[in-house]
Amino acid sequence: MARIFSGVQPTGNLHLGNYLGAIRNWVRLQTQYECIFCVVDMHAITVWQDPKELRASTREVAAAFIASGIDPKSCILFNQSQVSAHAELAWIFNCVARLGWLNRMTQFKEKAGKDRENASAGLYVYPNLMAADILAYKATHVPVGEDQKQHLELCRDIAQKFNHDYGTETFPVVEPLILGEATRVMSLRDGTRKMSKSEPSDMSRINLTDSADQIVQKIRKAKTDPEPLPDNAAGLEARPEAANLVNIYAALGDLSRDAVVAQFAGKTFSVFKDALSQLAIEKLNPIAERMRELMQDQGQIDAVLRDGAERANAIAQPILREVQDTVGFLRP
Ligand code: AMP
Ligand code: TRP
Repeated sequence: MARIFSGVQPTGNLHLGNYLGAIRNWVRLQTQYECIFCVVDMHAITVWQDPKELRASTREVAAAFIASGIDPKSCILFNQSQVSAHAELAWIFNCVARLGWLNRMTQFKEKAGKDRENASAGLYVYPNLMAADILAYKATHVPVGEDQKQHLELCRDIAQKFNHDYGTETFPVVEPLILGEATRVMSLRDGTRKMSKSEPSDMSRINLTDSADQIVQKIRKAKTDPEPLPDNAAGLEARPEAANLVNIYAALGDLSRDAVVAQFAGKTFSVFKDALSQLAIEKLNPIAERMRELMQDQGQIDAVLRDGAERANAIAQPILREVQDTVGFLRP
């Protein structure tokens, strides 16, 4: 049976990339699949997190899921560290994945930067933990943004090697679901860089909790080129900033790129940016408002996460036991 798993790290602000690349797609998938959505706090500490902020961010991401339309009754919504199977299976996968595979991970290279010797060991084995997240539930489909594609390929390699080495059919082949017109939302300041939580300038991203004024400001200041909008989508090639804004408009408005280009052909960016700001405000501000309401009742969010963790654990425990038996761990 098809089962979906996906996760977001509770680090800093959620932004438009997280929303359009991941969370919004989850909302649509929840009626078609059994869904498990996770706030991956164990992934977050691969780089330093202040404990107080980590707790606050974990609740905030959970609130963002619910405010975006995830139904925590029909889906399972929880934070990773509450279900120990993730850590236990990750250890086994640390022993399945090869150093050569991990050495190829571009996200590690980007995040570790020049001072690689000083990166945490956790950051290096992060993709193994991600594989454990997914495979602890034998999930078959994983909706993510494009940047996670390489990690999902590694997850498939781990599943296949495990099955092969132990001569079993334990794990399924995981399919990425990379959906929509904005699978890679770029920075508003540089169309060649991904919109990211870790970018120092807040002007580079639209946060889910930005006010209408902030959204207008950021879009007005967004980098573009001097040309008006082209009259077909091919005219966006080699214009990364223009292409990014068109993609964002298309994704937010549920339109194709072609439809957006047709609507704004020959218009200046100031006209297009006004329209984009209005659309972004219309789609994002109600989510921010609902997040604020939810955040006022911390007890309620914690109860959702606790309930989700119990249900997640009920699925993961038997799978973990099966894997432990396969590996030869004795449980007399
Ligand atoms: P993270 O914030 O790294 O935990 O990412 C959570 C989810 O958001 C993952 O599915 C990512 O692929 C997705 N995501 C993050 N940044 C972007 C972006 N700039 N464009 C599209 N998707 C993104
Ligand atoms: N690595 C993902 C990111 O940074 C987050 C993540 C952790 C994830 N575990 C996952 C995504 C399992 C999908 C499935 O975006």
